[in-house]
Amino acid sequence: MNPEVTMIVAMNQDRVIGSKKGGIPWSLPRDKSHFRARTSKRWLLVGRTTYLEMTGWFGDRTPIVLTRSLSFQPEVKSHRVASSVPAAIAVARNNGARELVVCGGSAVYHAAIPFADRLIVTKVGFDGEINSPVRFPDFESSAEWRLTAREQWNRDKSNSLEAEMLTYQKKAKNGD
Ligand SMILES: NC(=O)c1ccc[n+]([C@@H]2O[C@H](COP(=O)([O-])OP(=O)(O)OC[C@H]3O[C@@H](n4cnc5c(N)ncnc54)[C@H](OP(=O)(O)O)[C@@H]3O)[C@@H](O)[C@H]2O)c1
Repeated sequence: MNPEVTMIVAMNQDRVIGSKKGGIPWSLPRDKSHFRARTSKRWLLVGRTTYLEMTGWFGDRTPIVLTRSLSFQPEVKSHRVASSVPAAIAVARNNGARELVVCGGSAVYHAAIPFADRLIVTKVGFDGEINSPVRFPDFESSAEWRLTAREQWNRDKSNSLEAEMLTYQKKAKNGD
C-alpha cells in the first residue's frame, strides 16, 4: 500500500517559505520543535537544495532526496535518492513506510502537492521578504482541501512572531 503523503511547511500570508538568498526568513523556535517532532522517525521527501541546507540535521529521519542528477551522492549511506515524486513514494512503500512527509522546498512542494493527502501549515505572522519567489503552491484557492484543525500560537518570551498551525485533509473525489 502506498504511504500517506503529508506536506509540512511554514509560510507567511503570501505563501513565502524562503528568502531569495536561501534559508528561511524568520526564526520561530516553536515551529522548529513542531517540525522536529512531526518528522521524527519518518521517511521524508526533500529537494536537493533543502537537503544541502539541512546537512547534518536528519538524525533518526530517512530523507529521500529529489534530484534529476544521476550522480548525486547523499551525505549518509542510508539516505536515498529519487528522480520523481512517484519514484520517491515507491521507495517509501517498498521500505514499509506508512507515511511520507514532504519537507520542501518550493520546487518539491509544487511537484508533490498533486500526490498529497494532508497539509500541515504553520502560517507565520511575518511580512518581510514580500517579493521572494520562493513560495508554497496556492492551495487555498482550490476546493480540494478541508481545514480540519487550527491552533493559535501567541507570541511569548522565545517566539517573537505570532503563528497559526493549520491542518488540511484532501477531500474525497465526491467532495466529502
Ligand atoms: N518554510 C519552510 O517550511 C521551508 C521548508 C523547506 C525549504 N524551505 C526553503 O525553500 C528554499 C528551497 O526551495 P527550492 O525550490 O529552491 O529548492 P528545493 O525544492 O529544496 O530543491 C530543488 C531541487 O530539487 C530537485 N527537484 C525539484 N523538483 C523536482 C522534480 N519534479 N523531479 C526531480 N527533481 C526535482 C532539483 O534538483 P537537481 O537540480 O539536483 O535536479 C531542484 O534543483 C530554501 O530557501 C529553503 O530554506 C522552506
